Amino acid sequence: MSVVFHEKSGEFHLFNDEISYIISILPNGQLGQLYYGKRLRDRESFEHLQEYGMRSMVAWVGGLGRRDVSLELLKQEYPSFGSSDFRNPAFEILQENGSHVSNFRYVSHEIISGKPGLSGLPATYTEAPEEADTIVFTLFDEVTQVELKLNYTVFRDYNAIARSAHFENKGSQTLKLNSAMSFSLDLPGTEYEWMQFSGAWAREREPFVKKIGSGVTSVESMRGCSSPNQNPFVVIRKPGTTEDCGEAYGVSLVYSGNFLAQAEGDTYGQTRVMIGINPRGFCWNLTPGEVFQTPEAVVVYSAQGLNGMSQNFHELYRTRLARGYWRDRERPVLLNNWEATYMDFDEEKILNIARKACEAGIELFVLDDGWFGKRNDDFRGLGDWFVNTDKLENGISGLSRKITEMGMRFGLWFEPEMVNEDSDLFRAHPDWILATPGREPSLGRNQCVLDFSRKVVVDAIYEMMEKVIADSDITYIKWDMNRSITECYSAAYAANQQGEIYHRYILGVYDLYERLITRFPEILFESCASGGARFDPGMLYYAPQAWCSDDTDAVERIGIQYGTSYCYPVSSVGAHVSVVPNHQILRETPLETRFNVAMFGAFGYELDITRMPEEEFEEVKKQVAFVKQYRKLIHTGTYYRLADPFATNEGAWMVVSQDQKEAIVMYSRILIHPNSPVKRLKLKGLNPDLEYRIEAPRKKEVSRCGDELMYAGLITTEPAIGDIGEAGADVYTDFYSKVYVLKAN
Ligand code: DGJ
Repeated sequence: MSVVFHEKSGEFHLFNDEISYIISILPNGQLGQLYYGKRLRDRESFEHLQEYGMRSMVAWVGGLGRRDVSLELLKQEYPSFGSSDFRNPAFEILQENGSHVSNFRYVSHEIISGKPGLSGLPATYTEAPEEADTIVFTLFDEVTQVELKLNYTVFRDYNAIARSAHFENKGSQTLKLNSAMSFSLDLPGTEYEWMQFSGAWAREREPFVKKIGSGVTSVESMRGCSSPNQNPFVVIRKPGTTEDCGEAYGVSLVYSGNFLAQAEGDTYGQTRVMIGINPRGFCWNLTPGEVFQTPEAVVVYSAQGLNGMSQNFHELYRTRLARGYWRDRERPVLLNNWEATYMDFDEEKILNIARKACEAGIELFVLDDGWFGKRNDDFRGLGDWFVNTDKLENGISGLSRKITEMGMRFGLWFEPEMVNEDSDLFRAHPDWILATPGREPSLGRNQCVLDFSRKVVVDAIYEMMEKVIADSDITYIKWDMNRSITECYSAAYAANQQGEIYHRYILGVYDLYERLITRFPEILFESCASGGARFDPGMLYYAPQAWCSDDTDAVERIGIQYGTSYCYPVSSVGAHVSVVPNHQILRETPLETRFNVAMFGAFGYELDITRMPEEEFEEVKKQVAFVKQYRKLIHTGTYYRLADPFATNEGAWMVVSQDQKEAIVMYSRILIHPNSPVKRLKLKGLNPDLEYRIEAPRKKEVSRCGDELMYAGLITTEPAIGDIGEAGADVYTDFYSKVYVLKAN
């Protein structure tokens, strides 16, 4: 991996063994884009890949004496607003004289081994300088006297480029930064497909594909969080790209607030792709001396289809975005009491559940919502982070110690960013919420949003949380966030700063996380937002796992976890076995299927284990033992999607160990059909030369070679009702699934 500067041509070639990213200096001093894709042999110049030319109705750049230099035609790195390019810009600076035009010209560059961090913002990182090279371009706009730094990191081991932009006002004008995207890329051609991951509460991250063609295709969030509606991740791919072949660019934003992801197909055969903070609701005051750092964007190029793209994101995000004590440790099997008790519990009830969980081998008990203030329903209590001793007479400290003495870890739920009007905190500080003067704030789940753009508010919440945690034996925290932000206005800031509040809010969230992690480095954080409403790379930097969805139905989860896998590693996906009928959609699925799906995640249970029939409890004990045996493989192996539950009646995936000697496959057939055709599931990533023993519940162990399993397939058909099955075979129902463990000598 390297960054090469060709002085004669003024070109920069960023590459590793798999990818090339080539940048030039355009005649007007801006940075141009020449190529991003599969690795090219280095050469002095790729200038012929730039699109100089003269066309009617285009405007050419002034002052150069060249009529073939139009920004409308040139592929650029960080395009500006208002000059000879009519496409959407990557940024916009409003000046004192009312002009929006800027021209950032190349001044210098610096090549650094490794990757510098971004202060106050989550970002990918390196652990040794040889893991990546970073080039920082310094550009300058003479008129506004603003310095722009564009940061690019190319990683040695991942087909990923990380980018961000940094503005500094070195002049004396008061400027307004009306937009500042993290990443912009002009690709040749407009024949691309766009893949987005959309949904709502309880049905997050469903993949949708559309053609880009001419015009703008975009997704965004204006909810103050990344949202369950759209994820800050899109894929731009060539038509015909499949899971295993073809070209795909995955574009991901390491940020947890409002975002915009956009592709614009133009008239002359280029597609501009960008991602960053949503310009709507954003305006940063770039007063003299002021700086603005954008969040980081990570872009993965894959020539090995969507699986190849996802595998790069998985490894990078699992090992070089997630961090801290729990990054590489096996995650504890947990039991969360939410669906078991909701807020109706006392110490005895909790201890009974914990005792039984401990007996099953479960390692962590998590006490969810309802332990604090007057929190007996969701109308009150948020903000009062002190224990309700009517429910828990020995407090959190007493309860946590009793659970620790049983031999289990103890974890606790918080929703730090919120407050109920019926709370001591709100009564003392009614002005600490986000609200527009003179208007009633909208409520969501009966709660208001605390103004985390204010340090005093973050300090107060930190102090309350710190006390509870320090007084108790807490090794896990579930950080929830259950409403979108509305009336985003801070009483503490001036009128001209209100465009900063959405972003300052998220910076406050990151700050609180950072302070808690620094104070309690061994706590495992799980992020959550009404399930998966803030399942984004920004959160992964602080919390290596995230509650994937409030929907715990196994069939729904096959789709949700499948969609989530396009960007996020299995180790980050909080997944629990719950009871049937399922609490969200009342479906009854076999315990085995609930387990088979949830084990491909940060695994746990969310049910009252004391009320389980004995034979199910015995099954749970085996499940827990199974997860302990295979969680390392599941979390660190290479993940492949095998069958698409959105397109077929089946959902399947597998993980393969790095040495290809072990693999674990999950196959599910959603609805039963009588007398169904024979199905073969072609496995992936195995060693064709190895022979694998295949174990599966209620199946005779068989041996098959890797080549056969990948090219001929594994026969997964089970005789359906009406067929004559083998003696001792499964009972075939809807929502059938099977996990196969493959081991080679
Ligand atoms: C929403 C979360 O997603 C649930 O798991 C649970 O923690 C509730 N909030 C508690 O209010």
